Amino acid sequence: MRPLSFTHRYEPALTPDQPPLLLLHGTGGDENDLIPVGRMVASGAALLSPRGKVLENGMPRFFRRLAEGVFDEEDVKARANELADFVAEAREAYGLAAPIALGFSNGANIAAAMLVLRPETLAGAVLLRAMVPLSDPPRTDLTGKQVLMLSGAMDPLIPADNSSRLAAQLQGAGAEVKHTILPAGHGLSQQDLSLTQNWFLNL
Ligand code: MLT
Repeated sequence: MRPLSFTHRYEPALTPDQPPLLLLHGTGGDENDLIPVGRMVASGAALLSPRGKVLENGMPRFFRRLAEGVFDEEDVKARANELADFVAEAREAYGLAAPIALGFSNGANIAAAMLVLRPETLAGAVLLRAMVPLSDPPRTDLTGKQVLMLSGAMDPLIPADNSSRLAAQLQGAGAEVKHTILPAGHGLSQQDLSLTQNWFLNL
């Protein structure tokens, strides 16, 4: 098999008929970070976990930012397309159905960008600590896509109205969005894991 376009980890499914997970790490993470989370929340699913190609002071990310919370939107678009192309390659190479993205922070933001720019790429998404990736997103039809958004009431990086705006954008495009604001900061809490696990059980 020729090498795929992103450094990644792939863990085959342990049980049939579960949608694969596309695991997208936060700033400074890599393809290993979310494997245990993926196994915990969707125990039998195939896991596809790429490493972001952008380096910020040596820390991998999925797109460039100009400052904390200020995104290079042209790069967001280009990188979301590049990642969607990788998912298509990996689906063919590993024989996978369209995955559900599970992204944390920067990984959640690129997942949200992919949803609006390349909606066919993802069957749905879990967006943990996400914010609006594109200020003026294209019109998209997300009918039939389920999205779980978990935000932190005390998140110092993401103002509450920003995550709510993203939820409204996705809902406006037809996605079935469940947005819960947890008594948490930017980091993941036990509640994130149990709510995500429940969401997968009820898909
Ligand atoms: C981002 O840059 O995507 C967000 O600010 C979250 C982060 O990675 O810190």
